[in-house]
Amino acid sequence: MLLDEALDRIAEVPDFPEPGVLFRDLTPLLADPAAFAATVDALAAGLPEDTGLLAAVEARGFLLAAAIGYSRGIGVVPVRKPGKLPAVADRIEYELEYGSAVLELPAGLVAAGDRVTVVDDVLATGGTAAAAVGLLERAGARVDGVTVVLELAALGGRALLGSRPVRALRVL
Ligand code: PRP
Ligand code: HPA
Repeated sequence: MLLDEALDRIAEVPDFPEPGVLFRDLTPLLADPAAFAATVDALAAGLPEDTGLLAAVEARGFLLAAAIGYSRGIGVVPVRKPGKLPAVADRIEYELEYGSAVLELPAGLVAAGDRVTVVDDVLATGGTAAAAVGLLERAGARVDGVTVVLELAALGGRALLGSRPVRALRVL
């Protein structure tokens, strides 16, 4: 399947999770084996050659990073919501549109000098990706960039990521 056809499986859901928001739903893409394969292949092909580790953002980043990591022979470290990890290296609280959220990095898996790419499904305001980047960089890792299926450019997420490359298969 062509990548464009795969990305066309992303559905638009009006008024979710609240009125006025047009939610992009990747679940139909993930559920279609040809679309899932085309998407994972494209994400894997776009990774920098020397990235040695993927940081997968809970929850939807897990689905993609596991497949990309398997395909490229690279390990995956989960960046998790609070209370899930038995041993935590570091945590970052960050602002959401309403309220705040926390992400945690597991202890002992990311070493100084590691080359790491952050993987998630969607880059929206960029708060989530920036928090993941912050955790990795505080651990001494070098972040090779942020890899996503979809970037919602109007929300300006790239601005929170400075000069770190964002690789998106589709920008809306
Ligand atoms: C979504 C999405 C990204 C994040 C993008 O996750 O999967 O992780 O929001 O938004 P941002 O760029 O504005 O931070 P969500 O927090 O809904 O969690 P989930 O993956 O557990 O559904
Ligand atoms: N779809 C999926 N995840 C998201 C979205 C969206 O439209 N906006 C923020 N996170």
